[in-house]
Amino acid sequence: MLQKITELLQEVSSVTLKNTGDLELFRLKFLSKKGLLSDLFEDFKNVPPSSKKEIGQKLNLLKQNAQEKYNSLKTELSNLEDITSYTDLTRPSYLYSLGSRHPISIVRNELIDIFTRIGFTVSEGPEIEDDDHVFTKLNFAPEHPARDMQDTFYISRLSSEDSSPRDILLRTHTSSVQVRVMQNQKPPIRTISPGRVFRNEAISARAHCIFHQVEGLYIDENVSFADLRQTLLFFAREMFGKETEIRLRPSYFPFTEPSAEMDVSCKICGGKGCNVCKHTGWLEVLGCGMVHPNVLEACSIDSRKYTGFAFGMGIERVAMLKYGVNDLRLYFENDLRFLDQFKSAF
Ligand code: DAH
Repeated sequence: MLQKITELLQEVSSVTLKNTGDLELFRLKFLSKKGLLSDLFEDFKNVPPSSKKEIGQKLNLLKQNAQEKYNSLKTELSNLEDITSYTDLTRPSYLYSLGSRHPISIVRNELIDIFTRIGFTVSEGPEIEDDDHVFTKLNFAPEHPARDMQDTFYISRLSSEDSSPRDILLRTHTSSVQVRVMQNQKPPIRTISPGRVFRNEAISARAHCIFHQVEGLYIDENVSFADLRQTLLFFAREMFGKETEIRLRPSYFPFTEPSAEMDVSCKICGGKGCNVCKHTGWLEVLGCGMVHPNVLEACSIDSRKYTGFAFGMGIERVAMLKYGVNDLRLYFENDLRFLDQFKSAF
């Protein structure tokens, strides 16, 4: 009998639940009226008095262990039931929240889409540039104020082979890519160059030290101002809507002659005048003009054979007009409440 009780003690301690019904089976086997324990207590009556003490203690231990095991299995089971009753395993999972593109990327991609549809390629150039590509070859006079430290972030002054100093700086406009393209390709050239530019400006709602531009360049035989105007009209209508009108005002840039600034009709008021367009009905978008012969010659292109036009615009500016954003700083803060509002195909 002692042997049997020892075996049962081991069995009790190693029992685990595999199914919910196992708990009841355990109760029936050990604790019920017809279970093993009551049988053993029944047999105990016949144990000789000399062994009663030893066997009695073991039997009580078995009874206690079996009862405790039953209780702990019961709590284990009810915890399990709590979890399964909360969990609906057939429920679809939570949706991933998709990110959105930055408005500057959206407008940049849309600009690329518009211009590539009419045959422009995309070219890129370095953000860290030299004075030659940013100013000199673009016909900026040596004392031009744009070269001033006030506007330009200078990095270093290197000595070039012919021992004249060569300034290294952060490009202040993407017009520098024009020069690189003209130096490396032969006309016809038709390209746009989106990219980041840098100017030493105090940060405010209307100015930032880092921003983005897209430069456009078209060089071929017989390119005229009419081609420029028609290209820009196409761009304006694709970007701002079919009803958009454009207006070209005379202006000055060292690298174009004649030069102009382009306005688009204000789409908020339809040209009637409102706060956004300061009651003029027009919004300024970009600078443009016919590439100056000095620039063509500086890049080894025959200015008697070829003519061309160029234009340059700020991507932040276009995005502001398109989305009615009135503070440049919003583009750089990465506030999700701002960014989440831009869902787009581009
Ligand atoms: N580079 C000029 C700027 O940063 C923009 C510009 C004006 C580019 C006229 C051009 C152009 O190509 O023809 O303000």
